[in-house]
Amino acid sequence: MNEHLAMLGRFVRSPRTTGAVAPSSRALASAMVADLDLSGPVRVVELGPGTGVFTRVIAEHLGPAARCLAIDVDPGFVEQLQRRCPRVEAVCGSAADLQALTASAGFDRVDHIISGLPFASLPAAVTAAVLDGIVAVLRPGGTFTTFQYAHSYPAPLARAFRREMSARLGSRPARHLVWRNVPPAYVLGWSRRCA
Ligand SMILES: C[S@@+](CC[C@H](N)C(=O)[O-])C[C@H]1O[C@@H](n2cnc3c(N)ncnc32)[C@H](O)[C@@H]1O
Repeated sequence: MNEHLAMLGRFVRSPRTTGAVAPSSRALASAMVADLDLSGPVRVVELGPGTGVFTRVIAEHLGPAARCLAIDVDPGFVEQLQRRCPRVEAVCGSAADLQALTASAGFDRVDHIISGLPFASLPAAVTAAVLDGIVAVLRPGGTFTTFQYAHSYPAPLARAFRREMSARLGSRPARHLVWRNVPPAYVLGWSRRCA
């Protein structure tokens, strides 16, 4: 309940950045990591962790040599994550600075990027900078996973995002509908084409 209130409060103050009135469900979080093997020495980045619904599931799957950097612009969410999820390295910053943030964390590559960013409401310049960063850091064969709400999945903006991502990563996304989320959502997972 606290997490729901926290997200609602952030949404009222900053609707475009927060992008949702409530955290995602545990079912959606599980689906976001279902196809990923995080047991080895992987480097994982979570964008827009918010209250940490995905973060906790990611942390449960991380092997001992794996590292996960969670990046959120909201200092309150980051402080909460640092306390509640010490297995993950939570930093306050913009996903638009992905390359600099992963470099300062000492990541020499990124294997998996898991995003809860509200691309549908972010300013276009921020989305463009985030996509540039993803292309700059994600290794060939690495994955990018995000979700889109089912009701807005056919909307032009959502379709344009998928097209752009597919063009940049050289692959088409695997798609999985999660009903147990309010609202239901498609998990989309791209694997970056090996050169
Ligand atoms: C819809 S919430 C998602 C939270 C959580 N992943 C979930 O699914 O419940 C979006 C999150 O993205 C964060 N965010 C928005 N713009 C961002 C940016 N440019 N860089 C990093 N985080 C950002 C917000 O602060 C918020 O925590």
